[in-house]
Amino acid sequence: MYCCMLRSFHIKGNNLIQLTRASFSQNPQSWDTSSKIFSCTTYHCTHSPVSGSVWQPLTHRTHQPAASSRCMSSTVRRRRPPSAFPVIDGEFHPVHRHVYEANLRNSLICQQKYLENKEKVMKGGGENAIARHTLRNRKVLVRDRLRMLLDDEDYLELSSFAGLGLPYGDIPSAGCLTGIGKINGLWCMFIANDATVKGGTAYPITVKKQLRAQVVAMQNRLPSVYLVDSGGAFLPLQSEIFPDSNHGGRTFFNEAVMSAMKIPQVAVVCGSCTAGGAYVPTMSEEAVIVHRIGTIFLGGPPLVKAATGEEVSPEDLGGARLHSEVSGCVDHFAAAENEAYEFTRNIISTLNYELPEEDSAQVEEPLYNVDDLMGLAPRCYNHSMDVRLVVSRLTDGSRFQEFKARYGTPLLTGFARIEGHQVGIVANNGELTYEASLKGSHFVQLCDQRDIPLIFLQNTAPEPAHTFSQTKAESNTNRLKAQGSMMSAVACASVPKITVVIGGCHGGDSYAMCGRAFDPNFLFLWPNARVSILAPGHSDAFVQTEEEITQINEMLEEESSAFFSTARLWDDGVILPQDTRKVLSKCLKIIKQQEYQLSREKMRTPFLRL
Ligand code: COA
Repeated sequence: MYCCMLRSFHIKGNNLIQLTRASFSQNPQSWDTSSKIFSCTTYHCTHSPVSGSVWQPLTHRTHQPAASSRCMSSTVRRRRPPSAFPVIDGEFHPVHRHVYEANLRNSLICQQKYLENKEKVMKGGGENAIARHTLRNRKVLVRDRLRMLLDDEDYLELSSFAGLGLPYGDIPSAGCLTGIGKINGLWCMFIANDATVKGGTAYPITVKKQLRAQVVAMQNRLPSVYLVDSGGAFLPLQSEIFPDSNHGGRTFFNEAVMSAMKIPQVAVVCGSCTAGGAYVPTMSEEAVIVHRIGTIFLGGPPLVKAATGEEVSPEDLGGARLHSEVSGCVDHFAAAENEAYEFTRNIISTLNYELPEEDSAQVEEPLYNVDDLMGLAPRCYNHSMDVRLVVSRLTDGSRFQEFKARYGTPLLTGFARIEGHQVGIVANNGELTYEASLKGSHFVQLCDQRDIPLIFLQNTAPEPAHTFSQTKAESNTNRLKAQGSMMSAVACASVPKITVVIGGCHGGDSYAMCGRAFDPNFLFLWPNARVSILAPGHSDAFVQTEEEITQINEMLEEESSAFFSTARLWDDGVILPQDTRKVLSKCLKIIKQQEYQLSREKMRTPFLRL
């Protein structure tokens, strides 16, 4: 007989029998022992046997879920009610063959640009800077650092093309790699300076990228690791980095807020932490410094010389020994870089998470080939094919439980699974009409009610709302009201949201389809995507002369490209259509991890290093 405060158990044959105190004398209720883990869900009390094969006295623990959280404790293996959503027809009709081929030709060109950009960012700051970093400064390159830190290379890099082609030049990876990878089985955000790009100094785009990574970490409650190797602000652009609310100082503000939210942060000082950069490790919960490589100071040796005339070495001014033995700014002294990443991995192991067993259940692959998505990625608004064809290549078994199939048909809504995760899909084929917007509001609220994450597949129409007649004016007004409702539903839905722009991202419709301003947890673009208030070729109603029209169209053509957008961090990166299912599945796993953090109630104060 095994006891806990609330319930009693005994073993009968192979069955574990549970008897409540109140019903001790009633018929015992048998439990499935296959999972070997039990829960008194009513009281949020979990029990687990001490050893695997032989039943031992059960350990007892109670914990209450955070009041603000919508997630439940989860040491218990759960089972979804069985479902067999209908398979949707993903065949395309021969009559659409030419559209498919035109899309495919365009997608191949976009993919080429994607691969060229990828090659460019892999080179970091270029050959000379790499030689200076590795040979002269004896440091490890940032991607090799990530290899040492993370469990594997299966990480989700965010906004890798940010910083390319900006007015102030090409800043590969915005001088800082961000992404989400696993450390000892736990998804963590990493923010890692690339010191081969101008000494890791912060350009405006670097600051924006770091802030976005922190927001993603906050929204998804991800432990964060900073690999700091930075010369501080890029001085020639200081006015665009320092003073404003979303400039450099915000990084430190976020660090404090994250700490108060119980989002763990660890810093590894693996290079220079100069000026503002010095606060990153100092405000982290734990910091590791690498001997002879890591330094932390507000003003470096040149400033000391200028101010006092004294010559001091970086090591003596703010090296590993000083900060781990004297100042206490860091907590762990690592003799070499590999040791620093080992320390960090161990620190992550001390975080209070209880991860579920890997789910070994087979996932159904889509029935249709994901490579077809290249030909389904719309080249322009006139070349869109039914978005059902896209959905049929993303969902498990190409299954989709459609909602309101006959109403507001430009918008497709329904339930599906992506690698086992239940999601609500909102996908559009152009203009969000009055009916489509009402349907969208209804469905978004339904998912919010049921706590089901939402996936938006956005392909919005570029057409301006002309008001040539009174009837048209009335219908525009009605549409406006319905779109407003959908925007409110999307903005206030407290379930996770992921947006993939598969075609157009234009005008007001893009807000209702959870554009950037509506705070999706993640937003990705396909390389064919177009992002602009108006699509090229639709400006005639707003400008008069041929010359103006040509000028505006040229500008829209250039500025609406997915690469223009991602360079400026209006999204979390460009992904290839054929990778969408994998990326969505990874994001859903990442979002879910917060359910397994055992203590996540909001603290009143951040962690303070005294
Ligand atoms: N602003 C603008 N450019 C900077 C910079 C800064 N804060 N810090 C470094 N750079 C540039 C250098 O001019 C050099 O440019 P180049 O490649 O075109 O010649 C490049 O970054 C690399 O710097 P370098 O000093 O050659 O490399 P390093 O690896 O030996 O040292 C640092 C890197 C960051 C440690 C060192 O440059 C440094 O201490 N910089 C000053 C940091 C500082 O005081 N920042 C205060 C900001 S408020």
